[in-house]
Amino acid sequence: MYKGKFITIEGSEGAGKSTNIQYIQDYLQAKNIDFIATREPGGTPIAEKIRDLLLDKKNTSLCEDTELLLMFAARSQHLNELIIPALEAGKWVLSDRFTDATYAYQGGGRGLAKNKISQLEQWVQGDLRPDATILLDIPVELGMERVRNRGETDRFEEEQMSFFKRIRDTYLQLAKDNPQRFHIINTEPAIDEVYQQLKLVLDQLTQND
Ligand code: TMP
Repeated sequence: MYKGKFITIEGSEGAGKSTNIQYIQDYLQAKNIDFIATREPGGTPIAEKIRDLLLDKKNTSLCEDTELLLMFAARSQHLNELIIPALEAGKWVLSDRFTDATYAYQGGGRGLAKNKISQLEQWVQGDLRPDATILLDIPVELGMERVRNRGETDRFEEEQMSFFKRIRDTYLQLAKDNPQRFHIINTEPAIDEVYQQLKLVLDQLTQND
């Protein structure tokens, strides 16, 4: 539909999103691909305000449905203000998380019905889906160890291990259900090995550009 590709990066906590996103950005730059890098929830000033609400540890009484609706409110703003205009302008869009995170966290983690999420997905996105999704995968215990070593945690990172296990299982199930779109990268090995896996995926995605 668009000239540029819409690529999303997903993963459970501590899977190494920041370093790997930096690698992807450097790769696209070296290939002279015109792209924007953004994130969810957030990506525009209004959506970043919604992000603050969602991640603030003080918001202990935030209802699960409110959380879900806020994710899609932020997404709607992000799509209309940033993602769709960029794709229309022929740019690639690299988003640190998107709707798969809602299926994983609000669906798998919180246990909200999948059809609530798919209805909102249809409403907010119409037919727009990522062209490719890179899932950074790591065993939950290892990922959470990395998060704790980082220090400061947000509202989601305060959850129990079982919450993150459900999130990882949901991501892996989404990858199984959408094998064309998903590329799973195991981030357990040393960073150079992870970059090698990532490079193979990026070579494939940029093949015709
Ligand atoms: P980040 O830590 O990757 O920046 O993401 C912020 C948190 O928001 C992370 O814990 C995952 C969570 N999240 C959801 O729960 N649902 C969503 O739809 C998105 C995009 C993120």
